[in-house]
Amino acid sequence: MKRQENKHIILILGASGFLGGAIYKELCSYFRTFGTYNITNKTLEKNHHFFQYNIEEDDVYEILDIVKPTIIISALRGDFSKQVLVHQHLAEYVFLNKIKLIFLSSANVFDAYSKYPSYETDKTYSNSIYGHFKIKIENMLLRLPKKQVAILRLPMVFGNQSPRVLEILQHIKNKTAIEVFPNLIMNVTTDTKVTQQTHYIINRNKSGIFHLGSTDLVHHDDFIKEIIKSLGNPKALFKQVYTTNDDRYLAVLPKYNLLPINLQLLSQDILTELKI
Ligand SMILES: NC(=O)c1ccc[n+]([C@@H]2O[C@H](COP(=O)([O-])OP(=O)(O)OC[C@H]3O[C@@H](n4cnc5c(N)ncnc54)[C@H](OP(=O)(O)O)[C@@H]3O)[C@@H](O)[C@H]2O)c1
Repeated sequence: MKRQENKHIILILGASGFLGGAIYKELCSYFRTFGTYNITNKTLEKNHHFFQYNIEEDDVYEILDIVKPTIIISALRGDFSKQVLVHQHLAEYVFLNKIKLIFLSSANVFDAYSKYPSYETDKTYSNSIYGHFKIKIENMLLRLPKKQVAILRLPMVFGNQSPRVLEILQHIKNKTAIEVFPNLIMNVTTDTKVTQQTHYIINRNKSGIFHLGSTDLVHHDDFIKEIIKSLGNPKALFKQVYTTNDDRYLAVLPKYNLLPINLQLLSQDILTELKI
């Protein structure tokens, strides 16, 4: 992809995290990119492109006033009600300054529907606190002019450095059981694909709701076992967790707001990537 410095100024909230960090690395050589971190970090403290920011204590406007972003990417975690408040402030800023917000949402906005996979235009409905607050933020952002918002709904994200894979490795090392959900049918993705997709959405000025999961579905337990095989097949212990008697879907399948074929993925691509 061509360098296009100065076209956008990007602020990533949560840039010290797994996905925010991966997106920062992808974008920083193409755009003026800034990020936030929460936990004190000596390296980031010295980096003039990073700001320490805590949603419970700090005013996001102070960072917005300094950075003056043309695109904000929200990749935060933290107290849910504070997240709602921050996104209210972000929505006002985005509207007033006619800029764009990219929000990392989750398949959990559909976690109360278990019988089918979900598509972009399906009505959201959640039983979990996490899903409930994601829906609240999504609904707030969907009131903004359509061109100014991109909602990226992600399923479980795996990758070499993902907390999920690191946790599996830790369990193997400690000889403790890895929880698997045999009834859970889901789609999956990787941080590398999410970062490429985000880059494309920025470059092509795309907006709306995106379902950024693999186009195929996997059973949670099978997929975790496949990951372990890709990691060299070390001996692992499992704990089967059954939350219902029936199969349960947690899948965000793309159907209407499709990305080009090279930016779509199959679950097998993740396993191939983990082998490298
Ligand atoms: N990873 C997945 O599988 C997945 C799936 C679906 C959706 N998502 C969504 O993607 C987004 C990023 O997820 P992630 O897995 O990359 O999370 P993560 O690795 O835990 O990163 C979270 C980021 O938020 C920051 N943060 C945490 N508490 C904060 C607070 N109180 N105030 C300000 N910043 C705070 C962290 O800062 P520190 O590094 O300083 O703690 C970090 O930069 C989240 O919104 C999540 O819901 C993730």
